[in-house]
Amino acid sequence: MRKAVVGAAVVGTAAVVGVAALVVRQRMKRCGKWARAMALLKEFEEKCATPEAKLKQVADALTVEMHAGLASEGGSKLKMLISFIANLPTGDEDGIFYALDLGGTNFRVLRVQLRGRGGVVHQEIAEVSIPPALTGGTSDELFDYIAEKLANFVAEEERLFHQPPVKQRELGFTFSFPVMQTSINSGTLIRWTKGFAINDAVGQDVVVELTKALKRKGVEMRVAALVNDTIGTLARGRYTNNNVYLGVILGTGTNAAYVECAQAIPKWHGPLPKSGEMVINMEWGNFRSSHLPITEYDHALDVGSVNPGEQIFEKLTSGMYLGEVLRRVLLRMATEASFFGDEVPSKLKDPFILSTPDMSAMHQDTSSDLREVDNKLRTVLEIRNTPLKTRRVVVELCNIVATRGARLAAAGILGILKKMGRDTPQEGDRKTGIAIDGGLYEHYTEYRKCLENTVGQLLGEKTASSIVFEHSTDGSGIGAALLAASNSL
Ligand code: BGC
Repeated sequence: MRKAVVGAAVVGTAAVVGVAALVVRQRMKRCGKWARAMALLKEFEEKCATPEAKLKQVADALTVEMHAGLASEGGSKLKMLISFIANLPTGDEDGIFYALDLGGTNFRVLRVQLRGRGGVVHQEIAEVSIPPALTGGTSDELFDYIAEKLANFVAEEERLFHQPPVKQRELGFTFSFPVMQTSINSGTLIRWTKGFAINDAVGQDVVVELTKALKRKGVEMRVAALVNDTIGTLARGRYTNNNVYLGVILGTGTNAAYVECAQAIPKWHGPLPKSGEMVINMEWGNFRSSHLPITEYDHALDVGSVNPGEQIFEKLTSGMYLGEVLRRVLLRMATEASFFGDEVPSKLKDPFILSTPDMSAMHQDTSSDLREVDNKLRTVLEIRNTPLKTRRVVVELCNIVATRGARLAAAGILGILKKMGRDTPQEGDRKTGIAIDGGLYEHYTEYRKCLENTVGQLLGEKTASSIVFEHSTDGSGIGAALLAASNSL
């Protein structure tokens, strides 16, 4: 009996030892997986590093490409497109003007009433989302859709304001894709960006396409100015501050425009404008350089995109891509290091499921238990019960991706300031204005703060105090209406 009890005790001890060993093995396995996840995190962080010296190299490389792009058509990946805008708004613009702002998943229609020095006295804005199918359909389908919404807007306006129909409505058309302008109100689409792929529109004059669609829908409107959103933003900034020289968009896509000295544009063969200036649409989204910190995740994103090899700078910095880079890193960690448990969450395999606004919400979660991170992981990726340490790593990854993007955009701004000779303290107390717009800049506070701080660091305290960032709200639309005003008949 006693023996049996002893035997049972021995068996029991063996079982306990066995279970303990299993637990230890599992723990070791888990530790091993966690260590692997941490190694992937560290490796990613190192590859995304943007120390000041690197950013200065990026800025210098951009300046070199700016010169090359201005020298000849096709001289650089930077298109440095001539906008035909030699005069920015003065503040004296007067009358009612319209704008159509097309550049992403939504487009906006605006009606702006300007009263000279009285400024913008009234504005109506309607925002319409573009059905995803239209971004890959035909040119007629897209422009008919836009014209129809514009027709509704005009009809509504007539109903509301009971104004006799204006003889000729003048429209500023913000078309935020690379366009080779042939005049202030004509230009052909070079290629699409930001996921648009409407093949029959490439090489077409987008003003002609829009005008034909407006006719089909019976809308009487003349396109007075065709502008990029960066130029609208610059114009909006200049309207209230005549020391604004740069317009930057940080949104779904990214780009910059600036005021160049007309004589410094060798590829410009037209008459020298009286102002001596010309606004250049850089299309900096297409910038690339060996100094850019590109990881295997970026490479894979690029290869799988609708425009492989193009818009490399944009793919590192802009809102369309930041969340997707994060998703790719998380997927690798889930696959190779069971970061979210034994199963790889299936939603994590869906390209573009994690948007940059989701990423921004997780990054800026200040709750002690990172509730918002949990919420996004649950609602967007269907990943439940994540431990706090996992959520912390997610925040860390958001920080790495956003910091790299913001610091690179800052390097881009430094490159332009260098080209303009405004990277040193300016005489007098007139600060160089940088007008910025776009959802990323507007809503992703950490990104914006990092961008502005980095520009300051790169310039040094003295010069940093002679530049000013201006958020140009609705800049791309209102700016286009302002340019329609200065180019109206
Ligand atoms: C386009 C630019 C545009 C920028 C911001 C880029 O993808 O090529 O024309 O200014 O996005 O909207």
